[in-house]
Amino acid sequence: MAEVVVVADKEAAGELAAESIQALIAAKPDAVLGLATGSTPLPVYRALARRVAAAGTDVSHVRGYALDEYVGLPAGHPESYRAVITREVVEPLGLTPSLIHVPNGAIATIEHAGADYEKAIAESGGVDVQLLGIGTDGHIGFNEPGSSFASVTRVKTLTEQTRKDNARFFASEDDVPMHCITQGLSTILRARHLLLLAFGEGKAEALAGAVEGPVSASNPGSAIQLHPHVTVLVDEAAASKLRNIDYYRYAYAHKPAWQKL
Ligand code: PGA
Repeated sequence: MAEVVVVADKEAAGELAAESIQALIAAKPDAVLGLATGSTPLPVYRALARRVAAAGTDVSHVRGYALDEYVGLPAGHPESYRAVITREVVEPLGLTPSLIHVPNGAIATIEHAGADYEKAIAESGGVDVQLLGIGTDGHIGFNEPGSSFASVTRVKTLTEQTRKDNARFFASEDDVPMHCITQGLSTILRARHLLLLAFGEGKAEALAGAVEGPVSASNPGSAIQLHPHVTVLVDEAAASKLRNIDYYRYAYAHKPAWQKL
């Protein structure tokens, strides 16, 4: 079962996640981080940047693999996930740019971009901790409803809902790309620890389905139920549709001191 931790707000979630990631980097300086984009992980990156600066943690050997990328955006487009990861993660944390990877959404090489990415992740030894947000339609990465639990990095067509949700980053909904390249559910499940974050009422239904609903490709987030080490960090609003919330609070209140996230 996922460990569900209900926190006061996204800043508190960011601190908890950052504490865990900082401890990982201290123990393994070339740790492999699974990076997510969107609004959800930003408090984690901010807290982690503050923490590594304050502690003088050496992050120069940290490696990273982003979950996904849009297909066909011009190189350097400010909303490409390569640009977002550079702006929100690599620069503020002071990571080594050549060690941080994003799926290649260029049309010219798209046919083998998925296989190339899978190979690179495997050769790195695998992702130590994977940050995840969840879409209002239940997607993790850009694995839209119906994605196979056996899926690996490949091109997907974004749902209309996701294009609407992401229109805020573009001039209009029409400017949101139709296709993406995303790690598959099987790729994500190979990470050693999954850290899923969700904030706000808009995520409550998808989150409840992921944590407590039937395991179904119709709700890709439910794939987390197949993973042995999952931490879910949520605010009260995103937690509002969880049936077993009292148990999650009880378990966290009695968490053994020796047990990490
Ligand atoms: P958000 O997106 O973090 O911007 O809400 C999450 C997702 O689509 O996975």
